[in-house]
Amino acid sequence: MLASLTLEEKASLLSGLDRWRTKPVERAGVPSVWLSDGPHGVRRETEPDVSLPATAFPTSSALGATWDPELVEQVAAAIGREAAAQGVHVMLGPGINIKRTPLCGRNFEYLAEDPVLSGVLGAAYVRGMQSTGVGATVKHLAANNQENGRHWMSSEVDERTLREVYLAAFERVVTTAAPRLVMSSYNRVNGVHSSQNPWLLTHVLRDEWGFQGAVVSDWISVHDRVAALRAGLDLEMPGVDGVTDAEVVVAVRAGELDEAIVDRAALRLLALVDAVLPAVQGQVLDDSVLADHRALARRAAADATVLLANDGVLPLDPAAAQRIALIGRFADEPRIQGRGSACVNPRGQSSIREALAAELGDLVTYLPGYPAHDDDPARIDEHLVDAAVGAVRGSDAAIVVVGLPDHVESEGYDRTDLELPAAQQVLLEVLAATGTPLVVVLVSGSAVRLGEWHGAASAVVQAWLAGQEAGPALADVLLGRADPGGRLGETFPLRLEDTPAHLSYPGERGRARYAEGVFVGHRWYDARRMEVRHPFGHGLSYTTFDYTALEVGAMDPESGDVPVALTVTNTGGRPGSDVVQVYVEPAAAPVARPPRELKAFRKVRLEAGESRRVELTLSHRDFAWYDVDSGSWARSAGIARVVVGRSSRDLRLGVDVEVVLPPGAAAPATDAELEPRALAWSAGESERRRVR
Ligand code: GLC
Repeated sequence: MLASLTLEEKASLLSGLDRWRTKPVERAGVPSVWLSDGPHGVRRETEPDVSLPATAFPTSSALGATWDPELVEQVAAAIGREAAAQGVHVMLGPGINIKRTPLCGRNFEYLAEDPVLSGVLGAAYVRGMQSTGVGATVKHLAANNQENGRHWMSSEVDERTLREVYLAAFERVVTTAAPRLVMSSYNRVNGVHSSQNPWLLTHVLRDEWGFQGAVVSDWISVHDRVAALRAGLDLEMPGVDGVTDAEVVVAVRAGELDEAIVDRAALRLLALVDAVLPAVQGQVLDDSVLADHRALARRAAADATVLLANDGVLPLDPAAAQRIALIGRFADEPRIQGRGSACVNPRGQSSIREALAAELGDLVTYLPGYPAHDDDPARIDEHLVDAAVGAVRGSDAAIVVVGLPDHVESEGYDRTDLELPAAQQVLLEVLAATGTPLVVVLVSGSAVRLGEWHGAASAVVQAWLAGQEAGPALADVLLGRADPGGRLGETFPLRLEDTPAHLSYPGERGRARYAEGVFVGHRWYDARRMEVRHPFGHGLSYTTFDYTALEVGAMDPESGDVPVALTVTNTGGRPGSDVVQVYVEPAAAPVARPPRELKAFRKVRLEAGESRRVELTLSHRDFAWYDVDSGSWARSAGIARVVVGRSSRDLRLGVDVEVVLPPGAAAPATDAELEPRALAWSAGESERRRVR
């Protein structure tokens, strides 16, 4: 097929037909394929900003909190089925950028602050999506961790930090799930736009990771089409009326661009079309499938719900006929997703208010408690507060739903603080003083600062932006029909100033220096032994769990494999789920390493009293660090420790393991060995300077 195409036809494949479609080559029988957002459901536009109804699944901030690859795979497969039925061949998701700062406006679209959690769930999403034939697009490569200045800022990241943190999740997804596409990011990485960064798009992505698919640009992010093509960017989106296709042809004709590079990209596009075309067969999803999707969205939202604190007030017992004050506008006007390209037109949505009323009837009294935030976000309405106090005083328990307003969490700009709106904070403090047990429900796509009211609340629940079924799911959890299965995929700090990126975000003069290096997320707080409001991995269940009999085998010198096994027991009186988290406290190394890093995890669902033996295998990369001097992943011989816990701060058992080097492997160069090289270099430098 490629050989039969003219240069013009090959070049025409390299940019879109319009906002969402690739170009066909009618003469050669090459059809167009359709790409659509977004990670949380199909946004199949029929006209600008108007899209077909689709199931709005929990956002990635919620899916990340499930710590459940199987569940994420099911959600992605459901989205894939809906995409195919709407004529979409490629979905533009998952987004797996690391939550470097909780301020990033797009954190609701990303999974976690940690590269292992992001990579494992991102790979599950790609597998699920592609099981339907619809292509997945892992995005945005790389270091796209803030929205402010995203089109022009350069993420200045040292190579070890890139490898160990900001590329690691992409590497896991590309090498274990083979996404059809990778999307390059808007920003520059160390000065070079991702869309034309050969180190990123060819050296790392293809030469090292063996990526076989196509690289698509983020929308309107190609600055030099010929340079981008050379770097490894195959498809420019959206279409630009063939203007840049002509530039490619001219460059080839002028001998400035090797036609083999055009062939390489054109072949990838032909292979993509060939692979995804069969996904769309005119399917019509019947109501039973859509009902299954709604049930799945509800189960996923419950499984993502993180019970941050609970003095026993939860779960509510419907039989106790408690009078419940339900306070907070978001209980009646659901917050289900963030703004921007991921926005889905939901097939329906019901509020927490409706879901609770369905079960508890007129035992529930609803009041808005705070004003709509569309107008002055700082406005406080005393009448609303007073009315809420009255209702709460007269109730057995109060559920207060607060969170970030729609315009606060969005693609395109970042938050300026971690605060809940002032009106909500005033309401929480006043209600905490009533003495009525308070259940605070937070709806946000990323961490917020929990104020002084936190200590007075009987329970605190992080419900995320959990999609169209968020209301029923929350009712399931509050009423005990579902166990709160979520664990934090990001740290909730005590205050913004404590966060890892605080002194270097948002960057200056066009450069965002990742000064904290590998100490992102929980690694930062652990390395500095800082108190946090709620740690990475934290989440309570309605039952309790015990970890026993941890066994850690000897490391296999060749593979670096270390078998790990432990027994998890549900020691409470009701079924529940838990996430066994395996951290490695590294052996001494010639570089600064975090006190511990998440390396594996497993979600288990156990009946009351049930025990389960959990077995995992760690391997070379779980003990290694990236040695930029040798350009390889190095193990340092010594004693590491494998610890298992229910969060990064609730570590239950640990066993030392000796890290051994592969036979014949050289240990990483020591500083003593590096020093002469550096001196020689500087000698050469001073020689050059003298000559100059
Ligand atoms: C947006 C986003 C990207 C999305 C694309 C198409 O700007 O950055 O994630 O898939 O453009 O809407």
